[in-house]
Amino acid sequence: EQIEKNGYDHFMLKEIHEQPEAIKDTYRGRLRINEGIIKMAGIEDNLEKILKANRIIIVACGTSWHAGLVAEYIFEDLVRIPVEVEYASEFRYRNPVITSNDVVIAISQSGETADTLAAIKLAKQNGAFVFGVCNVVGSSIARESHAGAYTHAGPEIGVASTKAFTTQITVLTLIALKLAQSKGMLSKTEFQQYLAEMEAIPAKVEKCLKIDDHVKYISSIYKDSPNFLYLGRGYNFPVALEGALKLKEISYIHAEGYPAAEMKHGPIALIDEQMPVVVIATKKGHYEKVVSNIQEIKSRKGKIIGIVTEGDEEVRSMADFVIEVPETLEGLTPLLTTIPLQLLSYHIAVMRGCNVDQPRNLAKSVTVE
Ligand code: G6P
Repeated sequence: EQIEKNGYDHFMLKEIHEQPEAIKDTYRGRLRINEGIIKMAGIEDNLEKILKANRIIIVACGTSWHAGLVAEYIFEDLVRIPVEVEYASEFRYRNPVITSNDVVIAISQSGETADTLAAIKLAKQNGAFVFGVCNVVGSSIARESHAGAYTHAGPEIGVASTKAFTTQITVLTLIALKLAQSKGMLSKTEFQQYLAEMEAIPAKVEKCLKIDDHVKYISSIYKDSPNFLYLGRGYNFPVALEGALKLKEISYIHAEGYPAAEMKHGPIALIDEQMPVVVIATKKGHYEKVVSNIQEIKSRKGKIIGIVTEGDEEVRSMADFVIEVPETLEGLTPLLTTIPLQLLSYHIAVMRGCNVDQPRNLAKSVTVE
């Protein structure tokens, strides 16, 4: 086991650090900058069907569901096809309206989650086209889907999903870009810019990993807090949900993720000097509005940990701590803002003496209801 951990204390930490390579593996062969194309057989073979879909329904569970939420933003933004994101467990039992004009995308690291599998079987019975985004090759969901794309993240051992999440977002972004290009929704320059930025992501993730000591220090300050709040907007709202989930899963600290603007409809009542609030406030993506949320938190004496774009001064002047991530296109920010949140939950869990790789009551793959 020590050998498999490759010098890291835990599989989770190893997998967090594998993300630059994993993301590269995900886009390798697909992202063809010189040719100005994205190559994805599963999409190309079914292009017409997907492009004429009335809507895309994404079904998933857990962290994969969060990747689905990020995809909703990018698909609607770039492809202009309506997207619904469903918990597979709810979708399968609520007599959903599914037609042969729907495309269902199932996202699953393991490809074995019982609810997700049942959801796609139901979708198929109702004539929908099912596209699987899985990590495990030959898994049940991959086999049950009409077509699909693998994430190629490599084996993920830690129960809390890390590299599976960022590679899911990578694949889903490639799909969105490919569809957007085929539909003529992006200019050649915009498309090329996306490809170039995507190619630059692994090096930027590497940069996010380098500030680990700083994140560790912040973790030592807040490790005994009984509650955490995570806020984000737009593309970074699902990242806030994922950050909170990660903390809950491995440190057993109660954490809630919320869209920043919804704070005033409830969570603001929880804020006092005991409450750490992690706010994702990158420059692109409703920055000024998130800054005003930070002011509201500050005036209620909440502790602010800001996830900001490199060089940011405004949030720095208000926050207790900031963690910088490199600049990128708004649609790609989740691939960067996720990283410090993974590290934060990892360090807090380790400092609290928790079993990070195998948290209590959780399973890597939930193959029963
Ligand atoms: C379990 C795991 C999570 C995972 C979820 C969905 O709850 O602990 O990490 O996100 O299942 O799993 P899947 O394999 O379908 O992505």
